[in-house]
Amino acid sequence: MRTPVVAGNWKMNTTPLEGAHLAADIIEIIGKDPGPVDVILCPPFPGLLEVAAVTEGTRIEIGAQDLHHADAGAFTGSVSGPMLSASGCRFVLVGHSERRQHCRETVQVTSQKLLAAYRSDLLPILCVGENAGHRDAGQTFEVVGEQLGPALDLDPSLAARLIVAYEPVWAIGSGAAASPGDAQEVGAFIRHRMENSHGESLAQSTRILYGGSVNPGNIETFMGLSDIDGVLVGGASLQAETFARLVLASKEA
Ligand code: PGA
Repeated sequence: MRTPVVAGNWKMNTTPLEGAHLAADIIEIIGKDPGPVDVILCPPFPGLLEVAAVTEGTRIEIGAQDLHHADAGAFTGSVSGPMLSASGCRFVLVGHSERRQHCRETVQVTSQKLLAAYRSDLLPILCVGENAGHRDAGQTFEVVGEQLGPALDLDPSLAARLIVAYEPVWAIGSGAAASPGDAQEVGAFIRHRMENSHGESLAQSTRILYGGSVNPGNIETFMGLSDIDGVLVGGASLQAETFARLVLASKEA
């Protein structure tokens, strides 16, 4: 049985104070213990401490949106795993498509970041997904397979703690989510790859999320898919009531 995940990626939105209010409003609706679902809030770096203070004593977890692959050093403007753990993070997104696209993050860098996350006891959420051009060219599985590579190379003890998020780039922020059929097909492909490299039991316990224009109107279709175990939500995570509806819907699915 895989516990569903509802993760909110706030991206570059919310000041620390706004983030604290948003977290408090969410908790007011879903409660301190939302039940059989893992709820993860991913605020921008400056808001981590404030949001962590609000979620302390609850079952809501904090995630960061990125980390540097080194633990410390001359990397102006970057934030490391040890800093994130010390700021209350338990999770961290790795390889979000906006980082791959705007910050030219390569598969090699995401691979280093996964290891950096584990060194700091952070649980990585590895984001993979094709863009519209790849999909049109029939390269979805090739691209997703390549981006998944670092997960397949992990030591099994580390891979067992990985969450994978399938986020087709063309669906992110577009209002046009993937069809349930497409999401299931890629989810099954990811699980199959995990099984080939790490065995059936690990693959069966790996949580695979879907992300890309998830909203209260479509979440139930995604949560009902056999190889999708949760959602990674951008836009719809910025309104407490909307996000709370996603959390509640994930438990009913
Ligand atoms: P979206 O973003 O829900 O706004 O499409 C998802 C994401 O980028 O994680």
